[in-house]
Amino acid sequence: MTGSLRKAMLAGAVLALTAGALIGLPGASQAAGTGPCDVYGAAGTPCVAAHSTTRALYGAYNGPLYQVRRASDGATTNIGVLAAGGFANAAAQDSFCYGTTCVMSVIYDQSPRHNDLTPAPPGGVGGQDNPVPADALPVTAGGHTVYGASFSPIMGYRDNSTSGVATGSQPEGMYMVTSGTHYNNRCCFDYGNAETNNLDNGNGRMDALYFGTLCWFSPCNGSGPWVMADLENGLFQSAAGGSTNASYTGDRNAFVTATLKNNGTNFFALKSGNAQSGGLATRYAGALPTSRPGYSPMQKEGAIILGIGGDNSNTAIGSFFEGVMTSGLPSDAAENAVQANVVAVGYGGPSPVAAGTLNPGSTISLRATTACCTTRYVRHQNDGAVTSVVSSSSSALDKADASWIVRRGLANPSCVSFESRNYPGDFLRHFNYQVYRQPMDGSAIFRADATFCPQAGRSGTGTSFASYNFPTRFLRHYDNTLYIASNGGPNAFDSTASWAADVSWVVGSPWTP
Ligand code: AHR
Repeated sequence: MTGSLRKAMLAGAVLALTAGALIGLPGASQAAGTGPCDVYGAAGTPCVAAHSTTRALYGAYNGPLYQVRRASDGATTNIGVLAAGGFANAAAQDSFCYGTTCVMSVIYDQSPRHNDLTPAPPGGVGGQDNPVPADALPVTAGGHTVYGASFSPIMGYRDNSTSGVATGSQPEGMYMVTSGTHYNNRCCFDYGNAETNNLDNGNGRMDALYFGTLCWFSPCNGSGPWVMADLENGLFQSAAGGSTNASYTGDRNAFVTATLKNNGTNFFALKSGNAQSGGLATRYAGALPTSRPGYSPMQKEGAIILGIGGDNSNTAIGSFFEGVMTSGLPSDAAENAVQANVVAVGYGGPSPVAAGTLNPGSTISLRATTACCTTRYVRHQNDGAVTSVVSSSSSALDKADASWIVRRGLANPSCVSFESRNYPGDFLRHFNYQVYRQPMDGSAIFRADATFCPQAGRSGTGTSFASYNFPTRFLRHYDNTLYIASNGGPNAFDSTASWAADVSWVVGSPWTP
């Protein structure tokens, strides 16, 4: 059955479910078994999209949350919930992906509209997007370990053939739970309504939540990251573009709820708050932009994007745990009740990890042990990986360049990968045996090139890191440049002289925690 046929057949069911929500399900109060979409439905603004990799967004939902595809054989399986209305069955993913790696190949729409998200096609900007790694963002929800979706550049999802999503000047609302610890200033970490042809079709063709530090219009107050409305050709914090709210300096909580609603003709509102406690603060509520043409009324096209801009601009990073889009303009009461519902999830973790260890989540430094070089540390410089002398009097930039976040191995969770401390989403990877700092593009080759398997230091000191896909080659400094080197071989950097010391490193506290 085609996606559109499936959507058409389900249209009747949508009406029935909406009516059921209005008359038969709990209202906006926090009842057990109530999800955000029950809240919105009971308020007369039903969900037309409900995406989450962590939990059911309806109290009765018992279907798949997302699909994973594993690298070893290309097989796929759906990850569902532990119980109706409950949390993601992460153990099913762990079991299916054991010994290999998985990506989230589909993020299902839990609403009866079936507006499922798949990796976004090429657009006006940027080529085909990759799916996110399935296990890159372990967190807890309701005390269960679940996986959020962690976006690096060149990762994003889209549905250009939706059902029920607002078009033209129809009203709509949306929220997402994201993170105030993983963002950048590139375009555009969005969730919401966009063009159906992957191109920038002009002002007012989009209505999406943006989260990050791309300050499109001045002023942006504080250092962000901020919630903004991507209305196409601009990230708006007000009708004027820039912020009119001096007290809004950004949301840096580990979990952030962000909301946007737009009546399509003359009003939009942005709110945000801590997804772990408290309520939402209104960051802007007022007119749509009028000094620029095209936004009032809106000209929405009704596609859904996640992690990218409307024209597929795909250099942003971010985290996504859950989000929905509604038909109709949600009331403030409904938005407040949804925030209470999110807080009740109890998002948390991952558990704090001590710095200076090889446990995933730890931030570290890597110091050379060869006699020549014991004050030198692995750092990135001009996109390459080198060793430099770093000390307490080094600049903040040098210290950050020499600090790395340990991640589960991108190609094998028993090994490790090293994410740049000051270039989130960039990892150490080898290419032609030399090591560079590059954005993680999600490809199998990148994941393999960026995975290193620790073992006792080959010199008897510290730790050595075998390349995952060239296991006889180890992370080595040679002439202060990083390679994966074998103990003897055709290249100068394979020299046997001081090889064992050059491939042995001290894992220590980070220069930039
Ligand atoms: O509006 C900001 C961005 O501008 C949109 O997401 C994209 O389509 C365009 O490049």
